[in-house]
Amino acid sequence: MKLLLLPAVFALGSATHSGRSSARQLATFPGFAENIAVRHSGDILVTSLTTSSIQLLDPRVSNVTVALPPIPGANGISGIVEVEKDFFAVAAGIWNTTERRETNASVWMIDFRQSPSTRPALKKVVNIPETTALNSFTSIPGSSIVLGSDSNVGAIYSIDIGRRTYSIVNQDNALAPPGPAPSLGVNGIKVYGSYLYFANSGTGVLGRFPISRTGLATGPVQPVSQFNGSTYSGPDDFVIDEDGTVWISFHPNTIYKVDKDGKQEAVVSGDQILDPTSVTLGRGGEKGKRVLYASVNLLGEQIIGGVAEIEI
Ligand SMILES: *[C@@H]1O[C@H](CO)[C@@H](O)[C@H](O)[C@H]1NC(C)=O
Ligand SMILES: *[C@@H]1O[C@H](CO)[C@@H](O)[C@H](O)[C@H]1NC(C)=O
Ligand SMILES: *[C@@H]1O[C@H](CO)[C@@H](O)[C@H](O)[C@H]1NC(C)=O
Ligand SMILES: *[C@@H]1O[C@H](CO)[C@@H](O)[C@H](O)[C@H]1NC(C)=O
Repeated sequence: MKLLLLPAVFALGSATHSGRSSARQLATFPGFAENIAVRHSGDILVTSLTTSSIQLLDPRVSNVTVALPPIPGANGISGIVEVEKDFFAVAAGIWNTTERRETNASVWMIDFRQSPSTRPALKKVVNIPETTALNSFTSIPGSSIVLGSDSNVGAIYSIDIGRRTYSIVNQDNALAPPGPAPSLGVNGIKVYGSYLYFANSGTGVLGRFPISRTGLATGPVQPVSQFNGSTYSGPDDFVIDEDGTVWISFHPNTIYKVDKDGKQEAVVSGDQILDPTSVTLGRGGEKGKRVLYASVNLLGEQIIGGVAEIEI
C-alpha cells in the first residue's frame, strides 16, 4: 500500500545506499507498483494501485513488460496471491491514493492454466462492497481460502475462492490504523505454518497470531519486531522464507531482514530501492531462492513503478 506521497526527491546519481546488498532495476512501467508475485515459470506479476492491468515480466529480459488485459470496473489492484499453480487471486477496486481508501472492491481470479501468458482468463469471484481498503492477500495452503487485510478497519477477511463467499474472521486493535485516513493499519499479511504474520504500517508492529484452517484467530497477537511506523513511513508487504526469516519492505527506502528473534538488519536501502511496497522470493531451484524481487516506485512528476532484484 502506498505510503509515501509526492513530492519525493528522486536524487539521480547521488547514491546514498547502505545495507549489505545492492539492487538492480529490472523494469519500469507507468503506475504505482503495489504488490508482486512470481509464477512457477519465474515470470513476475506486479499489481498497481493506479492501473487496472497487471504487469508481466521475465526477470531474464530487461525492460520488457506486458500489460495484461485490464480488470473491468477498477482503477487499481492491490493484493495478489497464487491459490494453485498458475491460478492467482487479486483484489481490485476504485482507489483514491490520496486518501488511500477505495470503493467498489472486488476479488478476481487470473487463470494462466489454459491460456497464453499474456492473455490469462479473468473472472470475478465476488464483490466486497463493505471494505474501503482491501490491501494484501495471502492464501491458506491446500485450501481455496484467501485471507485479505483491511487497512482501514483493522480486519482480516477470509475469501473462499471456490464458494465465492467472504467474511471477516478477525478484527483487532493490533490491526487497526493509529489515525484516520490516510493512516494505514494492517498492511502485508502472510500465512506461515499455523500463524498469520502481519505488518501494521501506522504503528510499525510486525506481529503474528495463530489461526485455524479457515483463518480464524485461535490465540492472541504476539509481537515479532517493532519498526518506526507513521503515516508516511513504515513497514509494508513482506515474504517469509523457509527458515522463518522475514524480508520486509519499509517506506521510504529500505528492505529489512528480520530474524526469528525480531532482530532487524537493513539488506538494501537508499536511492536504489525507492518506495518499496512489496517483496517476494524468486522461484526455481537454489538460485531462485537467493533472489528477492521488490516492487518499487520512482515518485516524481509522473509515478513510475518498477521491479528491483536483490541478491541475498
Ligand atoms: C530500461 O529503461 C530505462 C528507462 O527508459 C533506461 O534508463 C534503462 O537504461 C533501461 N535499462 C536497460 C537494461 O535497458
Ligand atoms: C461502484 O459502486 C457504486 C455503488 O454500488 C455503483 O453505483 C457504481 O456503478 C460502481 N462503479 C463501477 C465503476 O462499477
Ligand atoms: C481523493 O481524496 C481526496 C482527499 O479526501 C479528495 O480531495 C479528492 O477529491 C479525492 N479524489 C477523487 C478522485 O475522488
Ligand atoms: C526509530 O526512530 C528513532 C528516532 O528517529 C531512531 O533513533 C531509531 O533508530 C528508529 N528505529 C528504527 C528501528 O528504525
